Amino acid sequence: MEVITKINEMRAKVLSVKDRKKSIGFVPTMGAIHDGHISLMRSARSENDELIVSIFLNPTQFDKGEDFDNYPRQLNQDIELIRKENVDVIFSPGTEEMYPDGYCTNVRQDRITDALCGRVRPGHFNGVTTIVTKLFNIIKPDRAYFGQKDYQQSAVIERLVRDLNMDIDIQVCPTVREEDGLALSSRNKRLNLEERQNALSIYGSLLKARSMFASNIRDAKEIIEEMASVIKKTNHTKIDYISIVNARTLEDLSLINEKALAAVAVWIGNTRLIDNTILE
Ligand code: PAF
Repeated sequence: MEVITKINEMRAKVLSVKDRKKSIGFVPTMGAIHDGHISLMRSARSENDELIVSIFLNPTQFDKGEDFDNYPRQLNQDIELIRKENVDVIFSPGTEEMYPDGYCTNVRQDRITDALCGRVRPGHFNGVTTIVTKLFNIIKPDRAYFGQKDYQQSAVIERLVRDLNMDIDIQVCPTVREEDGLALSSRNKRLNLEERQNALSIYGSLLKARSMFASNIRDAKEIIEEMASVIKKTNHTKIDYISIVNARTLEDLSLINEKALAAVAVWIGNTRLIDNTILE
């Protein structure tokens, strides 16, 4: 496995793969690798000739005062975890390499980014669309892999690829959970034991939504209120949002009469976690 930090070296490698007419699978990450990332790598490994994983903690997708400084950093440990997955190349550029002096171009997407996390994290998705476009331009993957836990991010990237005519197949893979239901996230590493326990209320609220939907309740407000009460029963939690939206457009629904997404963002102490479930 090669670890490449320079864009020109990465480009040369990609060129040699393309010359050999091999397909490229790509898993972009910000490091702090967990089993959710590993499952993306396994899907990508089974569907492509070459597998490239990027590790880049992208500063432009964190809002002011947000958790960039506290985001877990463990590059050496990440490299060892990724090595076990039969990955061909890790692309791990520094910030200066991706955003050199004078950098001033951004990719902005409207509409889908106005909903859910976009409402409470201004600028976040522009940071994501910009870095993902840059990574796609460097790595030129045939297929790129994202997790359903970041449902809105996947929707934004699917739209980005369509709108900008990028010839890349976006694969969205199921959320990986701990046995007790907590969705895997790099941010879970920051939870202490009590917070880890409190975080289970997030999954509990999604189960509540699913069971209400299964009993034919279609009123979004009613479901949201019950979801909120599951979370509020737990100490030291602060709801950022609970929404039920059209699963395609991410627009708020009052009546669930089409495929919907119940999405939740909750502060557990100083850590903000998100999760979601499809209702259909
Ligand atoms: O999901 C993430 O880890 C990041 O948002 C991504 C897609 C790697 C872009 O920085």
